[in-house]
Amino acid sequence: MRIYREKDYEAMSRRAAQIIAGEIVHNPACVLGLATGSTPEGAYRYLVDWYKQGLISFQDVLSVNLDEYVGLAPSHDQSYRYFMQSNLFDHVDIAAENTRVPDGLTKDPETFCQEYDAYIRSVGYVSLQLLGIGRNGHIGFNEPGDHFVKQTHVVDLAESTIDANARFFATRDDVPKQAISMGIGAIMGAKKVLLCASGEEKADAICSSLCGPITPKCPGSILQLHPNVVLVADEAALSKVPAGVIA
Ligand code: GLP
Repeated sequence: MRIYREKDYEAMSRRAAQIIAGEIVHNPACVLGLATGSTPEGAYRYLVDWYKQGLISFQDVLSVNLDEYVGLAPSHDQSYRYFMQSNLFDHVDIAAENTRVPDGLTKDPETFCQEYDAYIRSVGYVSLQLLGIGRNGHIGFNEPGDHFVKQTHVVDLAESTIDANARFFATRDDVPKQAISMGIGAIMGAKKVLLCASGEEKADAICSSLCGPITPKCPGSILQLHPNVVLVADEAALSKVPAGVIA
């Protein structure tokens, strides 16, 4: 695993955006696995900026998002489709039909999840998978549990995740209790994984994911088995990782 230790959120965002832009330049028809949450917002800002400067184009890029809340329409301002439109898609030249975000309103989740995985297989898996990490070690919405779930699936959100995400909703009760998440199989099938983390509240999750046992109790720990992971994190998020691991 290659680790970039950046000073702060801004530097982390710029480094992450450089890696994503590099992927696009190297492989204009790449498949980007995209993430939501506050962690990647800054990186998307840089990508939009560089697109506007004519440095990169998303014309041939395909994107597949990690997850979506069950029950939220694309027009809901806390849906992940809305997040992707407002933070990236609406500002660059990606074709609407080349973007995929799980459908939080699907009437048939089982079929939907199978088709989502079939689509990821059909495009040869993701070229570069961007990941944030939950305070409890979740990646996508793969919550801690007693086994890793390979397929795209409907997940019951952990109480701690509902607490953490309540800041985006009017009240805690408004936070959806379920999500559709890409499974560990598609994440591990990505050719490269770009894990990003910022802030002290991610220090335990990053330390456990890097240095702890590989266990579904900390879903991020599975990344120790991926052959091509780049971690971009700020000093606060790396503060609990022993120096020898970073050097
Ligand atoms: C969310 C998302 C994850 C994200 C994580 C951390 O709920 N499903 O994809 O990585 O939690 O979010 P944030 O970046 O806002 O800390």
